[in-house]
Amino acid sequence: MKELIKLDLADIGQVIESSKLVISVIGIGRIGLPTAVFFARAGFQTIGVDINPDLVKIVNSGQWPLKDEPGFQELFEDVTKKNKLLRATTDIADAISRSNVIILSLPTPMTEDNRPDYSAIEVVARSLNKLLQPYSIVVVESTVEPGYIENQLLKMIEGDGKRIKFGNNAGIAACPETANPGAILQDFQKVPRLVGAQDARSAKIVSLLYKHVFPVEILELSNCKTANASKLTANVFRDINIGFVNELAILFEKLGIDIIEVLGACDKKYNFETHYPGAGVGGPCLPVNSYQMLHSLSEANGFLKIIRAARETNEHMPYHVVDLLIEGLNEAGKPIKNSLVAVLGLSYKPDVADMQFAPGEHIINRIKQLGGRVRIYDPYFKSITLFSQRTERDLDGAVEGVDAVIIATAHKEFYSIEPGWLASKMNKKTPSSYPVVVDGRGVLDKRAAKKAGLIFRGIGRGGNC
Ligand SMILES: NC(=O)c1ccc[n+]([C@@H]2O[C@H](COP(=O)([O-])OP(=O)(O)OC[C@H]3O[C@@H](n4cnc5c(N)ncnc54)[C@H](O)[C@@H]3O)[C@@H](O)[C@H]2O)c1
Repeated sequence: MKELIKLDLADIGQVIESSKLVISVIGIGRIGLPTAVFFARAGFQTIGVDINPDLVKIVNSGQWPLKDEPGFQELFEDVTKKNKLLRATTDIADAISRSNVIILSLPTPMTEDNRPDYSAIEVVARSLNKLLQPYSIVVVESTVEPGYIENQLLKMIEGDGKRIKFGNNAGIAACPETANPGAILQDFQKVPRLVGAQDARSAKIVSLLYKHVFPVEILELSNCKTANASKLTANVFRDINIGFVNELAILFEKLGIDIIEVLGACDKKYNFETHYPGAGVGGPCLPVNSYQMLHSLSEANGFLKIIRAARETNEHMPYHVVDLLIEGLNEAGKPIKNSLVAVLGLSYKPDVADMQFAPGEHIINRIKQLGGRVRIYDPYFKSITLFSQRTERDLDGAVEGVDAVIIATAHKEFYSIEPGWLASKMNKKTPSSYPVVVDGRGVLDKRAAKKAGLIFRGIGRGGNC
């Protein structure tokens, strides 16, 4: 095997400019594949590694698999079909042994009891322990809790430290990814990158490399744990603020106040940052990141009350949606038992095909538990089997003849729902038997819904129209 170029500070600028480095991105999913495209676009031979052979095949055939990430098709074709700078493989050993820089973009979900699940990183760490080449650098883009790299990962890769010693003949850095699904191309060109490394030389090299690839500010932080703490802090801040407005939303429903009106007024104050209440906080980041922060607390034997309280409130929201449904059905004189409810939206956020930790599943299970019947529709999950039933093919079919509709995700398609149309499609057996709509995302016009004869409930939407 050819020896890898030594990454020296003295000539690293030249080495980067001449595109002589080989980059491996391990894990080419939502974040890793766009990352690999950017490294290849910057001129580097880039190897995308994944355990999923179907994904590898799709990537090598030049088809862009992330249909809900706009703007990548042309870039992707350039680096795969035209310049042939990006290829994918399942052969991790071959990729590691050829690469100067190994980027980990592996999933870091959580277990059923809300503990961080680093199993994918740990599997790869075992390969790195055997195969990482001297003078290469490992960059951890996966989100991990502060201290995980220094206290655990580093030792797993180094082993006895005889072959590889970070800070001596290899480097390890954290560059936690902060891009927003559905807007990754835009964020890669706009959002500053966080870089922290275990030694100053690796920090410099990784900063220069990322500066070359991403046209954004590079924030060089003191170490890996500070970089990871920064990523988590930004996301936990959002989880907590959403928890706060969710609590207020429940209060304002009781007080007859519309939270949207309140937030509109608060937004006029220069130091208020508006967050919106909703049916639940899902996705691979916010809930997981809060639990990662809480987990680092348990390691440090400390106390983090606000994060835990926000999580509790946010996790309660899908159940609150069902409480609003029951309230609406009561007003219509119907029990939830045997009522037919259309749940619109399974994705955890608008316009992406991702259901991780989304509230829809909890809402559906709760309704079924209470004896209700459910129809499910999401434009990103049409006509497939989910939660032991078939999802609907279209919105029309989903709402036809139902007693109630719940909007659980603010997909673009749902903004075009016209309340008059909705009321005419839903079940209106007798003049007093009004159909119910629960808006979990502030999508519908409350006044128009009521005018159309719908019994309207919305999170935080108390008060008269
Ligand atoms: N999706 C997001 O919104 C987002 C945003 C910022 C950061 N992140 C972080 O980025 C990391 C990756 O997330 P993602 O959303 O891209 O995940 P993903 O599930 O979309 O992709 C991960 C990929 O890794 C592959 N993989 C799993 N185990 C592997 C192994 N042992 N060897 C090789 N490949 C393996 C999977 O097959 C998958 O293709 C996570 O730490 C996540 O927290 C995600």
